[in-house]
Amino acid sequence: MPSDAALNQFFDFLRFDSISTDPKYKDQILACAKWLRLKLTAIGLDAAQHETPGHPIILARGPRKKGRPTVLIYGHYDVQPVDPLALWRRPPFNPGIENGIITARGASDNKGQIFAHILGVEQTLKEKGDLPVNLIMLIEGEEEIGSPHLAAFLAQHRKELACDVVAISDSSMIAPGHPTFTYGLRGLTAVEVTVTGPNHDLHSGIFGGAVENPATALARLIAGLHDKNLKVALPGFYAGVKPLAAWERKAWKKLPLQEAGLLKMTGAPALRGEKGFSALERIWARPTAEVNGIGGGYQGEGTKTVLPSKASAKFTFRLVPNQDPIRITEIVRDYFRRNAPPSVLIEIATGHSGEPYLVDPNAGFGLAAQRALGRLFPGKKPALIREGGSIPIVADFKRILHADTLLLGFALPDCNAHSPNETFPLSHLDLGRNLNRYLLEEIAAQK
Ligand code: BES
Ligand code: MN
Repeated sequence: MPSDAALNQFFDFLRFDSISTDPKYKDQILACAKWLRLKLTAIGLDAAQHETPGHPIILARGPRKKGRPTVLIYGHYDVQPVDPLALWRRPPFNPGIENGIITARGASDNKGQIFAHILGVEQTLKEKGDLPVNLIMLIEGEEEIGSPHLAAFLAQHRKELACDVVAISDSSMIAPGHPTFTYGLRGLTAVEVTVTGPNHDLHSGIFGGAVENPATALARLIAGLHDKNLKVALPGFYAGVKPLAAWERKAWKKLPLQEAGLLKMTGAPALRGEKGFSALERIWARPTAEVNGIGGGYQGEGTKTVLPSKASAKFTFRLVPNQDPIRITEIVRDYFRRNAPPSVLIEIATGHSGEPYLVDPNAGFGLAAQRALGRLFPGKKPALIREGGSIPIVADFKRILHADTLLLGFALPDCNAHSPNETFPLSHLDLGRNLNRYLLEEIAAQK
């Protein structure tokens, strides 16, 4: 059990509504960054706040000694928006515990996980006055909006940030009690499409039938994104897609999370997706086209006989090795441009994007990570998985700092990340604290 003091501090951290996407929350973002800097200073790290054109980055370092490896622990203090607010059991920024489960926005993604690392570092420094490695903690406030300023920061501070390996806990365990090592992430690219027909909303009786309905035109374009086997139907979309390895397909069939578990977690009546692949394969190793939001026309009570002037949709395309987000964005643009009927105008706005990531889990410090997980769950072999989510900066750590990343998340797949009622098991604060200690020790032992 974490001490009362640790838990109170965790709750303080969770009380900041550090929502990065909406400028209204700027003050809360700043207050949260300051809190973090003070906390990292209080545990004995040398911590500083770095301004960016967006939200600040908190950078902290432990004692430095020659001859031992440098580990960069990355996390984020920003969180996703809370809507739909009405579906929360309690206010999202008023954390509470019921039956050992903490509920708050950011509880698992990523405040709980980064706070557990802080507890680990705090404990080791308190007991030993030193850490087994040279430690850098980099905690940013823009992960949930695609880390728009972090790559430039890495490049500018490349010397200070030089490290042997990066460790991130911003992913999930395959199931409670199952040590999990993630060796791949999907990338993504975000696109928003607006279809405009008439220059104002029209009476659908007076004009309907003569004028294209932009909502219908958009629906047709969306429907065309997939073929009948639910493959993405855009020409060139699958070029370069790395096939699943035989060992992955075999090992993933034995994992404790399968289709029945996914059905239960999602509450969907049935699972559905690209033909020829299991659900886990589709999530972890196959690209997708997703509509994240769609709107247009009358959405209020009752009926309104209107032919809307506009309709729009937000999309993200999840990508796998070796798809190039820039190339895919072009393919997506071409699709909408070429297939929009002449009866509408189409605007295509591109958003953030990030590259997929894949490493050999049994190479380099991957083995140290697996040993640390083995100590955390004695007698259990870590599950080797990929994840469907994205942490775009991971590819930049490789490109700019030439460091591989160890993804050692300890959220759970049903923690409701990005959804109402986000949770984090109280016991995972201790779990993460211990993982931090074992991981730093095992990395030090390997070098
Ligand atoms: N923690 C997630 C990423 C994640 C989720 C990794 C599940 C592994 C499993 C992260 O905070 C996140 O949500 N990232 C965004 C990326 C983005 C907005 C650029 C995502 O994946 O949607
Ligand atoms: Mn997230």
